[in-house]
Amino acid sequence: MLSKNDELEVEIIDNGFEGEGISKYEDFVIFVPEGILGEKVKIKIVKVQKNFAYGKILEIIKPSKYRVEADCDTYSKCGGCNLRHIDYKYSLEMKKKSVQNTLKKALKKKIEIEDIIGMDDFCYYRNKLQFPVGIENGKTVMGVFARRSHRIIENMDCKIQNKNCQKVSKDIFEFLKNHEISGYNEENGQGLVRHIIVRIGVKTNEIMVILVLNSLDFPCEEEFIDFITKKNPNIKTIVKNLNNKNTNVILGKENKVIFGDGYIFDYLGDKKFKISPLSFYQVNPVQTEKLYNKAVEFAELTGTETIFDLYCGVGTIGIFSSGKAKKLYGIETIENAIKDARENAKINNIENSEFFVGNVEEVLPKLLEGRKIKPDVVFLDPPRKGCDKTAIDTLLNVEPKKIIYISCNPASLARDLAIFEEKYEIKRICLCDMFPGTSHIETVVKLELK
Ligand SMILES: C[S@@+](CC[C@H](N)C(=O)[O-])C[C@H]1O[C@@H](n2cnc3c(N)ncnc32)[C@H](O)[C@@H]1O
Repeated sequence: MLSKNDELEVEIIDNGFEGEGISKYEDFVIFVPEGILGEKVKIKIVKVQKNFAYGKILEIIKPSKYRVEADCDTYSKCGGCNLRHIDYKYSLEMKKKSVQNTLKKALKKKIEIEDIIGMDDFCYYRNKLQFPVGIENGKTVMGVFARRSHRIIENMDCKIQNKNCQKVSKDIFEFLKNHEISGYNEENGQGLVRHIIVRIGVKTNEIMVILVLNSLDFPCEEEFIDFITKKNPNIKTIVKNLNNKNTNVILGKENKVIFGDGYIFDYLGDKKFKISPLSFYQVNPVQTEKLYNKAVEFAELTGTETIFDLYCGVGTIGIFSSGKAKKLYGIETIENAIKDARENAKINNIENSEFFVGNVEEVLPKLLEGRKIKPDVVFLDPPRKGCDKTAIDTLLNVEPKKIIYISCNPASLARDLAIFEEKYEIKRICLCDMFPGTSHIETVVKLELK
């Protein structure tokens, strides 16, 4: 039996979903963060549960040939990346194997993942920076949350955030310090600034600043606008967001635009998109284009199809592919995102589209009632929890010829595909690495009616 603080030598026999090393000691599973398959390591047991334990690496006795020096100063403490100690190309193989195993367990048909689309330059890819601001040892600090905690660690160069966004965040923080504007204290609900968010349209170079505040009363507002826009002329808009609730949710519901129009633009392919403070927009635009191109390739559109973009956000996938379709319908639960989707369709001169606000599971059955509208191709891009069963049943009922399922969570994808398998054949599966350095992965699946 293992006990806390035991020290032992183990071999890493696999890697789990989050990249963690897995080893065994007399049939007892030990999770070893940062262990890599094939390595021999000396560990100290830090936590023991009924059937498994956690170990911390004390010494790497035999390193993997895929182990690399992590390129980030705060990597070992930060809650963001978890694969920076692994060679990038090998991390792609790990992700592919992990998704393959998850699908294999759930599906009847054995299917090979055909490709994983990686990045040539896999740093500084995120177009949306969200740095918490708080109090550590009585001082206002900005940085990243430590792993499994809300302690803020200062970080000089985050390897996944866009460099322009990082510069803007540092300039904002300098202003806060110079004007003694306090960070938010989660323990007593005091202090003003909770988060600094900076979004960039990487193709337009337009920047949006969002200050998430405990109160909309931001001191020296005019001076701030002058200071930050002079230092960063590509800032197109600044928004104050009110969040005075005791919550982990970053953004509150109320926005006040204090500079510019309250939105920025970006391009995906040749389509232009409007981004508002609360709207979902994929965070890795370079990979998003590759992902959408793969989805469009899987859809094999000829120009005669009625397509549905379900869970459409601001309409990106549908609008991206609408030039190749006869008619586009989009459904999304967030009202503002649908407003943006309608405007995005207008901006791109797309007349063959209609967008509906509401839950897919409620709106889709109503829309398809009486079978006046029949989808030929459906793009499904649900949140991490996957599709609602009613939405799947509706699709199984109306039988679109093709369903292109895009997923950021292999577990819920496997569950949903197992249901679709009843009527659909899984034709192709491809992965796209939208989140290098982390264990997250995006999957795109082509389903064809049997
Ligand atoms: C993974 S995002 C995809 C957005 C978009 N397809 C894109 O690529 O930018 C999932 C979207 O589903 C929306 N959503 C979540 N639950 C929903 C539901 N039950 N019905 C409709 N939309 C939902 C979220 O607001 C979010 O915009």
